[in-house]
Amino acid sequence: MQTPQNIGGVLMEIKSFGVIGAGQMGSGIAQVAAASGLQVVMSDINSDCTARGVGIIEKNLQRSVDKGKLTDAERQAILGRIKTTTKLADLAEVDYVVEAAVEMEELKFGIFRELDTVCPPGVILATNTSSIPIGRIGAQTGRPEKVIGMHFMNPVPVMKLVEVIRGLRTSDETFSITWELCHRFGKTPAEANDFPGFIANRILMPMINEAIFCLYQGVGKAEDIDTVMKLGMNHPMGPLALADLIGLDTCLAIMETLYDGFKDSKYRPCPLLRKYVEAGWLGRKNGRGFYQY
Ligand code: CAA
Repeated sequence: MQTPQNIGGVLMEIKSFGVIGAGQMGSGIAQVAAASGLQVVMSDINSDCTARGVGIIEKNLQRSVDKGKLTDAERQAILGRIKTTTKLADLAEVDYVVEAAVEMEELKFGIFRELDTVCPPGVILATNTSSIPIGRIGAQTGRPEKVIGMHFMNPVPVMKLVEVIRGLRTSDETFSITWELCHRFGKTPAEANDFPGFIANRILMPMINEAIFCLYQGVGKAEDIDTVMKLGMNHPMGPLALADLIGLDTCLAIMETLYDGFKDSKYRPCPLLRKYVEAGWLGRKNGRGFYQY
């Protein structure tokens, strides 16, 4: 890949980083950005949400201190680099923004329209979307060349991958800066083009959905389905436990995006997944999914 001449310079100028959303993904992204030395502004709709996000980060960092992987001074320094806000306008000062709000198209569109008015024209607006087209998000702004997918994996502090997704109008410079930023965060980027589900969820979600079909049709119990994939295929978690970790509402939203995008019945969401989401069983985050927590 050709790296434009000024990337090193531009990257060095990135000193502050905005994160929209303080949930499990947003807080994880804020943590890795602050750990890399950036000043972080993490925003969410109310102070309960931002406090919960900071709580997740504090817990993660404390675990690292307890294991001797981080000193207490380093933990304090990382936390000291994270500010929170409930106003998107406070992101006017940051050099790079990543949005990690919930996976709802209209909500993300609104955020990008507002960011476009708040952030100076040179600032890159990345999205952690797991499946919404980057081109469609970029078209909400007057700077589609500066809109890109920066898709982290859950749990963000642990998982090495970031999927970097180019929209049709994303510039090479935006791509290169984002690519380098992933390295600065200690992650390994992989490049994907803008098709529904990109690479990660195009492959992962149909597998999870098929595991849910196995449960739905009585092929096996949840524990047995997960044991087959863990011990038979060496996956670190079974697909149903992983669905609970990701969030069943997120899994359903991604399957809907694949189904809508390709109009192919192989991507139809399993009715059992829909039933769980409608009943409010969303996985680990609210204590009940395919397992009880
Ligand atoms: N947050 C931060 N750190 C965490 C964590 C969390 N939620 N969960 C575990 N960890 C850390 C632990 O502290 C531990 O750290 P050390 O190595 O420093 O001790 C390390 O991860 C390993 O944890 P454990 O020993 O407790 O447990 P494990 O070995 O079973 O690993 C796991 C846990 C990392 C979650 C592992 O089971 C795994 O890799 N699972 C698969 C995860 C996966 O596939 N993620 C991708 C989901 S798809 C996605 O995110 C994209 C999308 O769009 C849906």
